[in-house]
Amino acid sequence: MSRPVEIVHVDLGTRAYDVEIGEGLIEAAGARIAPHLARPRVAVVTDANVAALHLDALQDALAREGIAMTALALPAGEATKGWSEFARCVEWLLAEQVERRDVVVALGGGVIGDLVGFAAAVLRRGVRFVQVPTSLLAQVDSSVGGKTGINTPQGKNLVGAFHQPSLVLADTSALSTLTARDFLAGYGEVVKYGLLGDAEFFGWLETNGPALAAGDGAARIHAVRRSVEMKAEIVARDETEQGDRALLNLGHTFCHALEAATGYSDRLLHGEGVAIGCALAFDLSARLGLCSQEEPSRVRAHLAAMGMKRDLADIPGNLPDSGRLIDLMGQDKKVVDGRLRFILARGIGAAFVTDEVPADVLKTVLDEALAARSAPSLP
Ligand code: GLY
Repeated sequence: MSRPVEIVHVDLGTRAYDVEIGEGLIEAAGARIAPHLARPRVAVVTDANVAALHLDALQDALAREGIAMTALALPAGEATKGWSEFARCVEWLLAEQVERRDVVVALGGGVIGDLVGFAAAVLRRGVRFVQVPTSLLAQVDSSVGGKTGINTPQGKNLVGAFHQPSLVLADTSALSTLTARDFLAGYGEVVKYGLLGDAEFFGWLETNGPALAAGDGAARIHAVRRSVEMKAEIVARDETEQGDRALLNLGHTFCHALEAATGYSDRLLHGEGVAIGCALAFDLSARLGLCSQEEPSRVRAHLAAMGMKRDLADIPGNLPDSGRLIDLMGQDKKVVDGRLRFILARGIGAAFVTDEVPADVLKTVLDEALAARSAPSLP
């Protein structure tokens, strides 16, 4: 018997919606999407990998409710999240005669969710869309909160819109189709929630993380629900990131510089960069006397227990020096009036936003992390 579906409400007034979390939700998608439809027809955009795994199940689920489906499968991978596939998606939606009152469905990971959400935001000045996230990263982060967009040659996510979905269906059964590496990359974002605002949840992850990674369904639902709950609460407070929403970027200032330095390649997946970035944010916090020296070690111990990347030494290939990494941080969207904004922590579960990080301390933390890459490893 499958477990009950958990529902997290994202309380945004006229743009409020539910995130439903549970097993087998793709197979139940027809009944759940039907109440949102003005006519029994949806346009689904996915990628080729996800299509092979889940599109037939979604089509059957929709057909059982008498909903017709038309689908476009874009190439899988981050390179899809640019102008050319975006234009292809929008033009396909127009060719399919998607109308203002119709619903577009984004079936896939973060790339598909962000791109299709942005297409829905601009199509006929805005149509509704439903997120059906299939990666852990998309279930706990990118499908919730309405950030949509694409990458440009100047950087990631520099073009986009806030456009909230009408419904999010996070089918945790889909997580069993992920590679271990992709699953753990998404888990980097789960750890982030514990670190930024819920020490008890971090403790729960320390105990239950290994079982969760090994496939424990109840643990997976709990971790996704708690992550989404925290995100929903922050987004409801600060939808357009004027303040507190920046907390969700714990680890991301370092991560974005590392992703740029590794060419957005599979040397470093986004969630891996987030995990390393969280460890560095705790190093920086400890160095500034904000938290004890034990806290960064505890963060790393959990990442190590999960078999995750946690240090610059875990990134294969060359990295630039600290000066270049700091320059790359300057390209981040979080720069305000030329000042870098960091999410630091007074302890596990106690993050805050600041633009007061002395440049020399930042450089020291990065120099030490880079030096550890070349140090001979202990037996
Ligand atoms: N991924 C960060 C945010 O949604 O604000």
